[in-house]
Amino acid sequence: MSALSELNQQIALCRKCDIAKLRTKVVPGEGAESADIMFIGEAPGFNEDQQGRPFVGQAGQFLERLLASINLKREQVFIANVIKCRPPDNRDPLPTEIHNCRPWLDSQVELIKPKMIVTLGRYSMARYFPGKTISKIHGTALKQNNIIYFAMYHPAAALHQGSLRKDIEADMLKIPKLLAEAVKVEEAKPSTPPAQQLNMFEV
Ligand code: URA
Repeated sequence: MSALSELNQQIALCRKCDIAKLRTKVVPGEGAESADIMFIGEAPGFNEDQQGRPFVGQAGQFLERLLASINLKREQVFIANVIKCRPPDNRDPLPTEIHNCRPWLDSQVELIKPKMIVTLGRYSMARYFPGKTISKIHGTALKQNNIIYFAMYHPAAALHQGSLRKDIEADMLKIPKLLAEAVKVEEAKPSTPPAQQLNMFEV
């Protein structure tokens, strides 16, 4: 069994949060173990909780169309969420839930070793771009410790809002070039504290 499958088994046993009692299935994430890109959303919704798979509802269908716009299939990337259990009534994740789930996400990143992490929505953005505002930084990237971080709106938020939809579609189209030109992205200085490590640039 692969290290990632073993990790998923551990995640399935996790009961750190109260919402673990409410879940139908845990949703660890899925995709290529050697993926170059990880997409990280917020939390499972109704459909994801039923199936144990990330982004399988309406937002997921939109994400698949966005991936197709850059000639990618979901099996070629890794898709995960900041938290692995569905919050009741699709409420926002609580800080304690994000904190409890953080080691799972960190372990996934360590095993997959993606070249690029794409954050989908505010909660995922906050994990990698602390203190930033999504309307200001969507479509921008930074490179830190050899990973390119790229912030996008959440597909569920963008799906039905004309201007956000245009933004998310345009942001997605920047990904191939960013990956290809990864070496040209200036490396942030590791000695500076995290808040200053954000080496933002417009693509
Ligand atoms: N929204 C998310 O953030 N994640 C999912 O898996 C589904 C919808």
